[in-house]
Amino acid sequence: MQSFALTLSLVLMAAIVLIFGWVVLSASTREVPPAKPFRWRSPIFWILIVAGVIISVATLSPWPMSGHTASASEPDQVIQVTGQQWRWELSSDTVESGKEVEFQVTSNDVNHGFAIYRDKTKLITQTQAMPGFVNKLRVIFDEPGEYEVMCLEYCGLSHHAMSATIFVR
Ligand code: CUA
Repeated sequence: MQSFALTLSLVLMAAIVLIFGWVVLSASTREVPPAKPFRWRSPIFWILIVAGVIISVATLSPWPMSGHTASASEPDQVIQVTGQQWRWELSSDTVESGKEVEFQVTSNDVNHGFAIYRDKTKLITQTQAMPGFVNKLRVIFDEPGEYEVMCLEYCGLSHHAMSATIFVR
């Protein structure tokens, strides 16, 4: 699968190079008029600068990062999740309803999206699976049943087939 993906990528890249070359060769040589010089004293420039600073300060405060330092209680269950092209590896696929589960999500190759669905259509929660990082995602499943894990980040040819099941008792 990997070598097929590589071959297909090389063929498509060659096609893009050919199209690009054709566009460059068939382009006319008409001269582009020079751009107007930038005016520092333009009032619109300063109005935009002042408005940008005010909007930034007003909307960035309070910083969302402050919540990350809060101490959290221990979860009832921890599940290690590793994504890789093109499957999910879960250290356990069974959890109890009403208990807090912490998914520790990472990736072995490229970015994936760890998304948990109910009835294949309702998105319950999601986080990124990133190489070199562990993202923690805490979930309490209220209803027993089967939940589907699907990939929410395009990651290659078989992205659509990257799924798993979580059984909630
Ligand atoms: Cu993994 Cu898309």
